[in-house]
Amino acid sequence: MSKKKVFVETWGCQMNVADSETMLSMLQAQNYETTDQVEQADLVLLNTCHIREKATHKVLSRLGALRQVAEHNPNMKIAVAGCVAQAEGEKLLDKATNIDILLGPGKIEQLPELLSRHEESAKPVSALGFKKGRGDDKPHHPVEMPTTVKPTVTGKTEITRYVNIAQGCDNFCTFCVVPFTRGREISRPAAEIVTEVKNLLADGAREITLLGQNVNSYGHDLVRDQKLAPSAHGPFVDLLEEVVQLPGLDRLRFTTSNPHDFTKPLAELFRTWPKMGRYIHLPVQSGNDEVLERMKRKVTVAEYWERVNWLRDVDPEMALSTDLIVGFPGETEAQFEDTLKLVEAVRFSFIFAFKYSPRKGTAAARFREQVPEEVMSRRLAALNELQDRITLEMNLGEIGRTREVLCHYKSRKEENVYYARTEQFRLVKIPSDHDLVGRIVNVEIIDANKTALVGRLV
Ligand code: SAH
Ligand code: SF4
Ligand code: F3S
Repeated sequence: MSKKKVFVETWGCQMNVADSETMLSMLQAQNYETTDQVEQADLVLLNTCHIREKATHKVLSRLGALRQVAEHNPNMKIAVAGCVAQAEGEKLLDKATNIDILLGPGKIEQLPELLSRHEESAKPVSALGFKKGRGDDKPHHPVEMPTTVKPTVTGKTEITRYVNIAQGCDNFCTFCVVPFTRGREISRPAAEIVTEVKNLLADGAREITLLGQNVNSYGHDLVRDQKLAPSAHGPFVDLLEEVVQLPGLDRLRFTTSNPHDFTKPLAELFRTWPKMGRYIHLPVQSGNDEVLERMKRKVTVAEYWERVNWLRDVDPEMALSTDLIVGFPGETEAQFEDTLKLVEAVRFSFIFAFKYSPRKGTAAARFREQVPEEVMSRRLAALNELQDRITLEMNLGEIGRTREVLCHYKSRKEENVYYARTEQFRLVKIPSDHDLVGRIVNVEIIDANKTALVGRLV
């Protein structure tokens, strides 16, 4: 029987990437293979993100474009998954009548079932929502099928892979929709995570990134529900210690860490285990305590510094990146300048800076004193300009250093060029006549710009 084809488009965070991969593995078991030509697809899967404004609009315009594709490919089915599906719910089916399947991030394991239900009924079908109560023994995500390893959605690399370890978030920062689109935090049992990592390593992965919206609060729910005994350093540190020792693993990373749950024993793990990558994404959002308070981030700037110092005491070269929001309701010029000062002082490797975007249902959307668009644009530009200078300085500072890099993939555009990452997560372009993919090699950094370094094999 000839295979059916699925075209996948993934927006948003790495958790969506991991979810797309899980859905692909289920589709493979249903005789699907991936295609990068949407015109040939039997199924188009849009995995969507709701984090900032125009999210729904973006999905609707993509669906509009797909109508034209469908004129030449009338059997094409469309599935909309992810956070927009969850946030908009069945209203989305009225707004876009070409959706066949609507699937929330808490229900991805139902994709095969929805496909067959749709086949029978020829009507739009949906699965939305998440578990409200805890204490349910069924894992939130499907247990990995033991014989199949999840395919990659980027197709770029099999070397570095994502593993979701928890769903949802309990924090309710006042600007954020995630608790509404992904529900409360539910952690996967450690045994299931370890099995998935072992499968990926057996399939050739060398680097694993554990994922959660608040990855370092992993297991708090399991302890609270007495599914896991309390331990000295907490469930996340215990999990990392187990995973980092798995044979075949070269590097272990995790994201996104919330400074609130970032502990000293977690920082100390980097001292014990050289395989823990020397880079952490630690979103701070603002450099001003009053703004942080109104965001309900639960940490002060001083507490953020404490964590930075724990990490840099362990390794002075520890690379950090962060997320920042400019123009949070009521943010004054002086408060914004505190953010600039923090960025100047920490010296992040890079930042993700966003204009504040009001999200329906969140507390901050109801705050008065929304900051005008042009003020936000100016602040965003100033912040990015500052960080661009710092990123360039830090990258130029790498020239002349010898770095151990893990090679992720071969360039598709340039002959005999490979892309690798340093332990500090800096991207390195390496010319080489030999296949380097999956190998750890030493390179001397000979050139650099804002986005990447150039390395020569030594
Ligand atoms: N769980 C992570 C963040 C996930 S969302 C954490 O707590 O750090 C990724 C980033 O999007 C956030 O860190 C924030 O900087 C940005 N973001 C989230 N909601 C936003 C909004 N309403 N407007 C602008 N940026 C937002
Ligand atoms: Fe959103 Fe805050 Fe949860 Fe991060 S910690 S996902 S910003 S609510
Ligand atoms: Fe976006 Fe949902 Fe991730 S809103 S950032 S895809 S959790």
